[in-house]
Amino acid sequence: MGIGVVSIGSILASTNSAAFDVDAIRVGLHLLAMAVWIGGQVIMIALLPLLREVEGLPAKAAQAFGRVAWPAFALAVLTGIWNILTVPMADVSTGYNIVLGIKLLLVVGAGIATWMHQRASTASMRGATAGMGFVASLIVVVLGSMLAH
Ligand code: HEM
Repeated sequence: MGIGVVSIGSILASTNSAAFDVDAIRVGLHLLAMAVWIGGQVIMIALLPLLREVEGLPAKAAQAFGRVAWPAFALAVLTGIWNILTVPMADVSTGYNIVLGIKLLLVVGAGIATWMHQRASTASMRGATAGMGFVASLIVVVLGSMLAH
């Protein structure tokens, strides 16, 4: 019984913070941006064999995806800055600062690699830059999750 009361108490305590508030909007928008940026790349990779069946279609599909992906990237940066503004940066650990720093470098790296990918004129350069941008973005997701609180 005692254990039951304690468990219900802790469940209530944890559900207490499950509020639809400004924090939920901030994190939700950051995750939505991430989902479009990374999820879109996964879909592009999945559809590529099919798109290649028609001459010129991969480029058209990539351009269409870019019209959604870059606004999503911008939203990730804006909501990321918003995230930082809500974190008491004076109190965070050295580890937090290091993870955040590496994450920001990789965000810049992912952006540059993807931008180069769009402008690449050879297939090998296109593939290499796409891979670098994608892998950097995946690491950014892991590092972002380490920062979440
Ligand atoms: C493509 C770009 C980005 C991706 C994929 C990404 C991904 C993520 C993910 C998955 C989280 C965990 C969300 C949570 O559950 O709270 C997160 C949190 C965070 N991100 Fe990003 N992020 C990106 C860009 C940025 C940028 C540019 C900044 C800073 C300018 C930033 C700063 C943060 C911070 C401070 C947190 C912790 C938020 C909190 O504690 O509530 N992110 N990010």
